[in-house]
Amino acid sequence: MENDGQLSSRIVLFGGNGDLSRRMLFPSLYLLDRDGLLPEGFLIVAVDRSIAETEALREDLQKIIASSPQVQNLDAQVWQRFAARVTAMQLDAEQPDDYARLAQNLAGGGLDATMYYLAVTPKLYGTICRNLKSAGLLGQHCRVILEKPLGYDLQTSKQINGSIAEALEEDSIFRVDHYLGKETVQNLLCLRFANSLLEPLWNHRGIDNIQITIAETVGAEGRWSYYNESGALRDMVQNHMLQLLCLVAMEPPIELESHAVRDEKVKVLRSLRPIDAFQVRHNTVRGQYSAGAVGGKSVPGYTEEEGGRASNCETFVALRAEIDNWRWAGVPFYLRTGKRMPKRYTEIFIQFKAIPHSIFPMPPGSELTANKLMIRLQPEEEVTLWIMNKVPGLTSEGTRLQSLPLNLSRTTAFENYRRGIAYERLILDAMHGNRTLFVRRDEVEAAWTWVDGIVAGWKEVGMTPQSYGAGTWGPSSSFALTERHGHTWHEA
Ligand code: BG6
Repeated sequence: MENDGQLSSRIVLFGGNGDLSRRMLFPSLYLLDRDGLLPEGFLIVAVDRSIAETEALREDLQKIIASSPQVQNLDAQVWQRFAARVTAMQLDAEQPDDYARLAQNLAGGGLDATMYYLAVTPKLYGTICRNLKSAGLLGQHCRVILEKPLGYDLQTSKQINGSIAEALEEDSIFRVDHYLGKETVQNLLCLRFANSLLEPLWNHRGIDNIQITIAETVGAEGRWSYYNESGALRDMVQNHMLQLLCLVAMEPPIELESHAVRDEKVKVLRSLRPIDAFQVRHNTVRGQYSAGAVGGKSVPGYTEEEGGRASNCETFVALRAEIDNWRWAGVPFYLRTGKRMPKRYTEIFIQFKAIPHSIFPMPPGSELTANKLMIRLQPEEEVTLWIMNKVPGLTSEGTRLQSLPLNLSRTTAFENYRRGIAYERLILDAMHGNRTLFVRRDEVEAAWTWVDGIVAGWKEVGMTPQSYGAGTWGPSSSFALTERHGHTWHEA
C-alpha cells in the first residue's frame, strides 16, 4: 500500500476522554507501541472539555488498557514508554482562544506532522477544522481523521464535508469506516486480486447471487436517541455494508494506490440501480424488534428500551440490490443487517452457479449443490469454500455426492495470530499517509445518493417497519425477499 513518505510525529485526540478514545483509540495506540510501530518520540495529546490532569489520565488509562479484551496483559516496560507519550489538555472545541493554548502546547516541533483525530460529534467537525486553521495548526502535512455519521442524508453530508473542505485539502482528510480496518476485509482484496482462481468466475456468468449479512445480538440500548435518528439503513448500510459491497464488486484497480482503489469503489456505487418508490416494497424490508429473548435472556422491545418511545425507526433492513454494469448484470446482491438477531456474525456469502448439466445419477439422499464461498469476518475469521465430493464407499445405486467445506481459519493458519482492533490498522495507515483504507468524499456522497432514494421511497409509499421478535432473523418478509427469486439466505 502506498505511504506518502511523511510520518506523523504526534496525534491529538479531540474527545480524548470520550467513549471511542477509551474503548478503541488508546488501546489501539498502546498495541501499536507494543508492536514497535510507534515512532520514537511520538506523542499523544488527549484534549477534551473536561479531562483529568496528565498523571490522573495516565492512571485511568492504565486500568482501561489493561482491561481491554485485545490487550489482556499490560507489559510493564511498554506501559512506561507508552504512558510517557500521553499528556492531557482541557480544551473547549468551540472556543477559538483554547486553540491558542493548544498551539503553545504543541509548539516545539512536529507541528507540521500532527494528526488530529476528531472523536467527537460530527456537528463539531467544521468548527474544529476552522479553529485549527485560524490558530495556524494545520501545517502542510497535518492530517485530520474523522468518522461517521457524516451527515444524515446527501444534503447534510455535503454540509459537513463542505465545512471541513474550507479548512483542509481532501488529501489531508482521513474518513474512517472501521470495517475497512478489519483484517478479513483487507483479506478480501488479497483473495480476489492475489489469486487467479476466482477472477474468471467473479461475474454474472459464474455467480448466482451474493449475500452480505451483518447480524448483531445487541439492541439500541444505551444509545437509543442517537440510533433513533438514523436507523439500520443509515447506521450500517450507507457505510459498512456498501463498503463491503464495493470491495466484492469492484473491478481490479490498476494498483493498490488510494485513488486507484477508491475510483473503482465509486464506480460500483454509481452503478447501483436506484430503488425508488415503485421498488421499495418489492426490494426492501424494514423491521423493528419487539420484546423477545437473545441467548436465553429476555430483552425488551426497541420502543421499550431505556430512553425509548414510539418510533418508526428500523432496527433491521434487508435489501435486494443490483449493479448495472457489464460484470454484474442480473446478479442480485442481498444485504441484511439487524439488531437483536439470534447470533452475532458478519459474512459475505457467494453462491456460484450450478453446473450446467449433471452426469451423475443421483441416488436417494444425494444432492448436487452449487459451489459456495463464505468469507466470515466475525466472530470467527475464516474463508470456506464448499465443493462437491464423492462420498466414499460402494453402492449399487450410483455415486453418492456431498458438498464439503474447504476451510481456512486465520487463527489456525497463522501461528501466534493476534486479532487486532480495526483502529490499529487505520491509525497506522493515517500516520504513514496511506489513504487506501479511508473513504473519499465522492464515495460518501455516492452512497448517500443511493440510500436517500430508498428513504424517499419508504416515505412516499408510507412503508413503516414490520415487527420481529428479538432473537429471530427479522420479519418473515425478509425470507420472501430472497425466496421469490428462488434464493435463500445462508444461515449461520
Ligand atoms: C457502528 C454502528 O458503526 O458499527 C453500530 O453505529 C454497530 O450500531 C457497529 O453496532 C458494529 O460494528 P462491529 O465492528 O461491532 O461489527
